[in-house]
Amino acid sequence: MKTKYIIAFFLFFNSGYRCSLAQKKDPELDIKIKALISKMTLEEKIGMLHANDLFSSAGVERLGIPPLVSDDGPLGVREEVKVGWLPAGLTTDSATFFPNGSAIAATWNPEMAYQYGVALGEEARARKKNVILAPAFNIARTPLCGRTYEYYSEDPFLNSRLAVRAVKGIQSKNVAACVKHYALNNQEYDRFKVNVEADERTLREIYLPAFKAAVQEGDAWAVMSAYNKFRGVFCSENKYLLKDILKDQWGFKGVVISDWGGTHSTVTAAKNGLDIEMGTESPYEQYYFAAPLFKAVKNNEVSTALIDEKVYRILWLMHHTSMSDNHSAGQINTPEHALTTYNIAKESIVLLKNNKKLLPLLNAGTKKIAVIGDNAIRTFHNGGFGAGVKAKYEVNALQGLYNRLGKNASLRFAQGYNALYKSTDSEEQRITANIPDESLISKAVDEAKNADVAIVFIGGNREVESEGKDRKDIQLPFGQEALVAAVSAANPNTIIVVVGGAPYVLTKMDNANHTILWSWYNGSEGGNALADVILGKVNPSGRLPFTFPVKLEDSPAHALGTYPGSEFSTEYKEGILVGYRWYDTKHIAPLYPFGFGLSYSTFLYSDASTDKQLYPADGKIMVSIKLKNGGTQAGNEVVQLYASKSESKVDRPEKELKGFTKVWLEPGEMKTLRIPLNVADLAYFDAKMMRWKVEEGTYKLMIGSSSRDIKLSREITVSR
Ligand code: BGC
Repeated sequence: MKTKYIIAFFLFFNSGYRCSLAQKKDPELDIKIKALISKMTLEEKIGMLHANDLFSSAGVERLGIPPLVSDDGPLGVREEVKVGWLPAGLTTDSATFFPNGSAIAATWNPEMAYQYGVALGEEARARKKNVILAPAFNIARTPLCGRTYEYYSEDPFLNSRLAVRAVKGIQSKNVAACVKHYALNNQEYDRFKVNVEADERTLREIYLPAFKAAVQEGDAWAVMSAYNKFRGVFCSENKYLLKDILKDQWGFKGVVISDWGGTHSTVTAAKNGLDIEMGTESPYEQYYFAAPLFKAVKNNEVSTALIDEKVYRILWLMHHTSMSDNHSAGQINTPEHALTTYNIAKESIVLLKNNKKLLPLLNAGTKKIAVIGDNAIRTFHNGGFGAGVKAKYEVNALQGLYNRLGKNASLRFAQGYNALYKSTDSEEQRITANIPDESLISKAVDEAKNADVAIVFIGGNREVESEGKDRKDIQLPFGQEALVAAVSAANPNTIIVVVGGAPYVLTKMDNANHTILWSWYNGSEGGNALADVILGKVNPSGRLPFTFPVKLEDSPAHALGTYPGSEFSTEYKEGILVGYRWYDTKHIAPLYPFGFGLSYSTFLYSDASTDKQLYPADGKIMVSIKLKNGGTQAGNEVVQLYASKSESKVDRPEKELKGFTKVWLEPGEMKTLRIPLNVADLAYFDAKMMRWKVEEGTYKLMIGSSSRDIKLSREITVSR
């Protein structure tokens, strides 16, 4: 047996694995890791490859290898839990609640994603986690997906830019980002079983770019495989996704961790790229990657070299985290982290409509404010199924207004509606919870009548949008439309604030009301940031990271009837036409387009130019425009660059986002902005040749403030 082991070890050092680690820059580390592995028994190695607790896999104490400790997640470091996900009841596990994924995306500011990562990494470090199970950035394919709020966007480019910076931020604190859920986990419905069929071009152009960028540009140290199947094979044992694409083509050096309970085999998963099996239920010794894996090695079904490769990856990750020389103690609940959440929140809030210029609500003349709706007093750090945070504090909207206005105004609160639905409730209970409560509405109307201004806080909450369950529709819940109608009839100065992490149908409300502000599950400082936008201290600069349809049936997966699929399989028939690519190409008017958001200022676009007219396929384009703040308030504008190709050999979307920049302008100030674009990024994925291909010919570059508000355009030519 010993001889066998030595041979296997020799093979490992001389295997193709060595080549796949070609990016490794540290030969000393390589020697260290290999020396450690050479001292380990097979039992010790196997111990590192499966959960031995809800959020850890074993280390090897005698060799100074610590356990690998992970935790959720995107909203902040979750509280400690016991078996059954029950809170451990500690007094030492509170943390900062960070704005949700779509809020971060709505900032359209990669620097915000970076700051988020830095703060989250520091908190994970303080709570002694080596791996934080974040960020999560599956594409928002359907507005119904229960985890849309955790994810970023419907657009792969925006997704990629944010994912890279979030990963960089987290890992700058010597904590591994575990990017998830790889891949095509775009619905919660049947998530443990559903098979996704998507063609190669769709896979490469829409669903993989952010993962690729997180790995290749962000240098992510861990990836979580998704629950679902892709092309008939579970993602946790999907050779094509894990081995061929992630590890071989992209050169991923880190660790593939299964989603919790998402492993379905021993030999297949081990051979096809999974490194660690995590899960919820004990006994952990019986996990696929525990005793059965040990047996498989003994039976020569899995080589020791393969086991060593997995252990190598884990030790490599550990040398960047818990075993690194320079890791700090971390910090938690600091004023700096609070400031980060405030900054993200203030940049994420989207002004959807301001026809009567009711916003900003300047103090003069506004003495009595009716604050209406459960979402004014609700917090969002916890709720529903899935990762939340035991927030040290969370400022709700009413508190935020009170903090900012103090005695300068009288705030009168009315509940408006009852948010009685829980994510575990039945469909019948959900329907009942949506019936308007006439008595609460009438109390709200009374308050509105006696006020100078009414602000109605409606939308979703963490029970309505939850992991493990898609929404049934995207209507506003809890009879909120009736509440809004009654309050706006009682007081013409009614401002609607909708809180949510995913699109809702706001069509009726948009037709009937003049002032609509959109906010998110916006972290510990959410209420303060919201109050600052309402009161004009902050000029809104959030832009929608996904399209708001007029009705659900307009959105691609629903228009084509491919959601949620049948017999546990769903075909992504819309192909690359996801989100605005669909609406724009099919000429379906959305209610609010991708990239949309108003400001208290107006921005004037002029003088679009490119540095050249003719570019080679490996060239770099520099697009310039002039932007002027034509308003009286300083603020940020998000300038978006889209591209299209007419007369293409393949079907192309009407336009695709290729660049953006967020820029601050004082009133009257004008700046020249430059947005770079690689010609290579104009390529499509040629599925026959299995490579990215830049077509020669004419491209239109469009500069605008949303996918539907193109202000300027230029044509360029690409030659061979
Ligand atoms: C989720 C993951 C999460 C894991 C551990 C799973 O149900 O899909 O996102 O990280 O649980 O809590």
